[in-house]
Amino acid sequence: MTATLIDGTAIAAKVRAQVATDAAAYFAATGKKPGLATVLVGDNAGSQSYVKSKRKACAEAGMESFGFELPKTATQDEVESLVARLNADPEVHGILVQLPLPEGLNEESVLNKISIDKDVDGFHPVNIGRLSMKGRQPLFVPCTPAGCMVLLEEAGAQFKGANAVVLGRSNIVGLPAAMLLLHRDCTVTICHSRTKDLAAVCREADILIAAVGRPQMVKRDWVKPGAYVIDVGINRIADATKKSGSRLVGDVDFDDVKEVAGAITPVPGGVGPMTIAMLMRNTMRSAQAKLA
Ligand code: GUN
Repeated sequence: MTATLIDGTAIAAKVRAQVATDAAAYFAATGKKPGLATVLVGDNAGSQSYVKSKRKACAEAGMESFGFELPKTATQDEVESLVARLNADPEVHGILVQLPLPEGLNEESVLNKISIDKDVDGFHPVNIGRLSMKGRQPLFVPCTPAGCMVLLEEAGAQFKGANAVVLGRSNIVGLPAAMLLLHRDCTVTICHSRTKDLAAVCREADILIAAVGRPQMVKRDWVKPGAYVIDVGINRIADATKKSGSRLVGDVDFDDVKEVAGAITPVPGGVGPMTIAMLMRNTMRSAQAKLA
C-alpha cells in the first residue's frame, strides 16, 4: 500500500469530543442541553438505523435528541405540521428530516418549511442557494460533504487550483460537495451517468470524491498517482467468506486504488462516521448562535 489511510473514525471522534466539550459548556451556561429533533417517516430499515445512530451520538455528546416517527401513510400536512411545531420549540436547535421520504410526499416542500436557522442538514433551499453562490455563506452545510472537506483538510490536501472531480450529482452529496470544493478555489468537474470517458476525467483529479452508489467502480487506472480519494459509497456485496454472507464496500476498489492514490478513505471507517459528527457540530453551532 502506498496511500496514506485517512482515518474517518479517529477524525470524527476528535470532532465529537469537541462537540461534547462545547455541549458541557453550553449546559453550564444555560442549564439546558443543545437539542436535535429527528423526524423519521415510514419504515425504511436503513433510515431507521441511521436515525438511531444519530440519536445515540447526541446522547454520548451530552445533547438532547427528540425522536419523532410518523407512519408511511402520513400526509404532507402532518409532516409539515410537525416541522412547524419543532420550528417553534425553543428546546429544539436542529431539525433533521431523514431522507428519502416515502413516495407521495413532497420532499422539497417539507425541506422548505424547516426554519433556516434550525436546518442542521443544510438542505433548505436558501442554505443550498447560498452554498451555490459566490461570496454567500449558508448557515449550515450538508453533513456528508462537509465531512469530506474535513477529511481532506486533515489529510493535508491543497485546494487552491487543484483539479477536483466529483463522481455523482445527488442533492445530498455530489452537488454540495462540488460547491464546497469550488469555494476553496478548486477547478471542479462533476461527473454523472452521461459523462463520456469517466476514467479519463477521473485520472485528471488531484482530489476525487466518489458518491455514485456503484460498488468498487473506481479502479486503479482511474486515479492519478498521489491523488486524494474520498469514498462516500456504502454498498453491500455478497462475500461467501463472511459469516453474514456479505460485506460493505465503497464506490472505490480500495485494494486496487490504495496502490496508486496518495491518500484514501476506507469503507467502513471513512466518510460514514463524519456525517454524524458534522450533524452534531451543526446542532451545537445552532445552539451557540441562539446565545450570541
Ligand atoms: N439520507 C441520507 N443521508 C442523509 C443526510 O445526511 N440527512 C438526511 N436528513 N437524510 C439523509
